[in-house]
Amino acid sequence: MMIRRVTPADFKEILVIESEAFPKSRYDLGAFWSLFQQYPGTFLVVETDQVDGYIIFSPDGHIVSMAVKAQRRRRGVGSGLIRAALAHCADKVLRLEVRVSNLGARKFYERFGFKIKDRLERYYQDGEGALIMERPISRDVEMIEP
Ligand SMILES: CC(C)(COP(=O)(O)OP(=O)(O)OC[C@H]1O[C@@H](n2cnc3c(N)ncnc32)[C@H](O)[C@@H]1OP(=O)(O)O)[C@@H](O)C(=O)NCCC(=O)NCCS
Repeated sequence: MMIRRVTPADFKEILVIESEAFPKSRYDLGAFWSLFQQYPGTFLVVETDQVDGYIIFSPDGHIVSMAVKAQRRRRGVGSGLIRAALAHCADKVLRLEVRVSNLGARKFYERFGFKIKDRLERYYQDGEGALIMERPISRDVEMIEP
């Protein structure tokens, strides 16, 4: 699995992944451009024969978004991306917001040691609330499992 920094040439594939992953609140092309400008070193993609997924996080540990192509899920792509963020942010607390109803993603993050820290009511535009999940990061990145 190759993980590398995003380039604008990836945006077309990322927009397809995005619309499958977040039908109710997807980022558009303009949003990806500004995230690319804001986080040039921490907007990463997994590439095989195509772009299989992406993660955007701030260097201080806030996961802005991540998604894996629907037909490539449950094959470790998301795990590769989260491990890259963990490795980048050693000694930081990794944190994110997730829809309360997004049980699959919640299970995924729990598997990596994230715990629910807070709940934000009506966080998303459609009125759904978010859970804030956090994972303290050990300096010993090798210890980060599963
Ligand atoms: C959440 C997401 C990124 C996970 O990516 P992935 O590549 O499927 O994850 P992995 O294959 O690395 O999964 C690792 C483990 O996490 C857990 N997991 C992942 N998806 C799960 C699901 N839908 N339900 C339950 N557990 C899940 C499992 O324990 C899995 O291991 P297993 O497949 O051996 O059982 C992906 O489902 C996705 O893109 N979802 C839509 C977008 C989204 O919700 N993003 C997060 C928003 S905050």
